[in-house]
Amino acid sequence: MNVVWVTGASRGIGKAMAQKLAKAGFAVALTARNATALHQLSDSIQQQGGNALVLPGDVSQPKVPLQIAEKILNSWKRIDTLINNAGIGIFKSILSTDVQEWDESLAVNTRSAFLCSKAVLPHMIENRAGKIINVISVAGQQPYPNCGAYCASKYAMLGFTDVLRNETRQYGIQVTAFMPGATDTEIWGNADLPRERMMTPEQVATQAVHLCKADANIMIEQVVMRPQGGDL
Ligand SMILES: NC(=O)c1ccc[n+]([C@@H]2O[C@H](COP(=O)([O-])OP(=O)(O)OC[C@H]3O[C@@H](n4cnc5c(N)ncnc54)[C@H](OP(=O)(O)O)[C@@H]3O)[C@@H](O)[C@H]2O)c1
Repeated sequence: MNVVWVTGASRGIGKAMAQKLAKAGFAVALTARNATALHQLSDSIQQQGGNALVLPGDVSQPKVPLQIAEKILNSWKRIDTLINNAGIGIFKSILSTDVQEWDESLAVNTRSAFLCSKAVLPHMIENRAGKIINVISVAGQQPYPNCGAYCASKYAMLGFTDVLRNETRQYGIQVTAFMPGATDTEIWGNADLPRERMMTPEQVATQAVHLCKADANIMIEQVVMRPQGGDL
């Protein structure tokens, strides 16, 4: 059994990752706040012969990731890969972003990756193996207007990811900064954007499956992908 824990699995990129990983034979632990959506996803994965576990929760809350990791370990005895994908987009000018939105962006996008990583690290260190894939964004190393809170959270996530790799490579752990560009999901809300130019969640998810299958002796540090035509 090869177990992947996907956060933010109720829709969008995380859901597509869970579906593709299950099809590729991975057992998937599914986390997000919307339990109904997770159960629907789990049912469809299991109907197709896959293996899924539903573990709802808000991963930005300090105790939740640890509780979920314990449940996965109780059920399946292992966590081979963590995909820190849960995220929100606050797409506003800095002047119009309020402190609550700022804090929420940092908590959901960045703190949750820190908390979930801490929750799986003792197990991975003991196993001398494991993969952590942090879903960042091209906005983690390039500024975009009306993305102050989002870019701040994603730049911070890239710094965190690079330090995590430095600290854990001695234990055989592989840490990847996964940096997609515009992808057609609900994160964009009603924004008037050319959706047909965006990547699909399935295209992005395919790259995550490659990472989950990567040999243990290779460190894929960063994966950057954009729509063929570039940024929107
Ligand atoms: N779409 C893009 O263009 C794009 C580009 C680069 C990077 N990304 C990144 O890709 C990741 C997924 O985004 P997406 O585009 O698929 O967006 P999405 O469709 O809005 O999905 C976001 C996912 O995160 C979950 N989530 C949000 N807050 C959460 C919390 N506190 N605890 C647990 N789960 C939470 C949501 O589930 P619930 O609401 O059920 O909790 C949902 O499953 C994000 O980190 C995003 O920043 C997206």
